[in-house]
Amino acid sequence: MSKSIEVNDLNVYYGDFLAVEGVSIDIQPRTVTAFIGPSGCGKSTFLRTLNRMHEVIPGASVKGQVLVDGQDLYGPGVDPVLVRRQVGMVFQRPNPFPTMSIRENVLAGVKLNNKRISKGDADALVEKSLTGANLWNEVKDRLDKPGSGLSGGQQQRLCIARAIAVSPDIILMDEPCSALDPISTFAIEELISELKNDYTVVIVTHNMQQASRVSDKTAFFNIAGTGKPGKLIEYDDTTRIFTTPSVQATEDYVSGRFG
Ligand SMILES: Nc1ncnc2c1ncn2[C@@H]1O[C@H](COP(=O)(O)OP(=O)(O)OP(=O)(O)O)[C@@H](O)[C@H]1O
Ligand SMILES: [Mg+2]
Repeated sequence: MSKSIEVNDLNVYYGDFLAVEGVSIDIQPRTVTAFIGPSGCGKSTFLRTLNRMHEVIPGASVKGQVLVDGQDLYGPGVDPVLVRRQVGMVFQRPNPFPTMSIRENVLAGVKLNNKRISKGDADALVEKSLTGANLWNEVKDRLDKPGSGLSGGQQQRLCIARAIAVSPDIILMDEPCSALDPISTFAIEELISELKNDYTVVIVTHNMQQASRVSDKTAFFNIAGTGKPGKLIEYDDTTRIFTTPSVQATEDYVSGRFG
């Protein structure tokens, strides 16, 4: 169940430091959106507000609205734990639980969510999630071996399997390929293109080729200087952002003239 994301005038703070200012963006279901921009412009910070992971940092807060299919994630009475289940996240460095087997890693989120699940259902879910993450064939004969024994690219796909096992609506990925070799990167990019059939996908990347390969829409963030807030400068179809953007700063960035 892929869902839309509508952000209205969001400000994001660390204590009284305004890290990201005034972001409004509409993200459609079944699309891949890339967030690009120079280091420190707030891409990760903004991404984490989309599943309420930002506020786990002491003193961190947001002002504004994030609507998922029209429901405000920051509305009164909304449980952040349920939000994080609905909006999954994959990080830069693959982070499988080292003491858990491949199978246990896939089921980790499901168990955290306190879902009771039979052995048969668990087996089916493990296979489905690993298949969805393009990893099943590589690991089906060693599901009880530790997740940490996989290659970096396999570990990242294991983390994606763990994320999709809880049936999220949205998957956020913060530079998911930056620790991977080109072949693993290609595997993840293929996977992202498939994931958008079922999920709304948002990916942060520093790799312009990757953004243009995998995304339908691209959001360019920028920062005017140290201590200034990051802002969303331009958001449009990816082909347009990379060929005929309407803002000069976007053009400079995508053509490698700065950042
Ligand atoms: N935990 C934190 N506490 C205080 N400030 C933070 C914290 N995390 C990030 N910041 C600040 O927020 C701003 C945005 O950082 P963020 O990590 O979101 O940028 P980014 O665009 O993801 O950069 P990069 O491309 O290097 O990952 C920076 O000024 C950063 O120093
Ligand atoms: Mg970042």
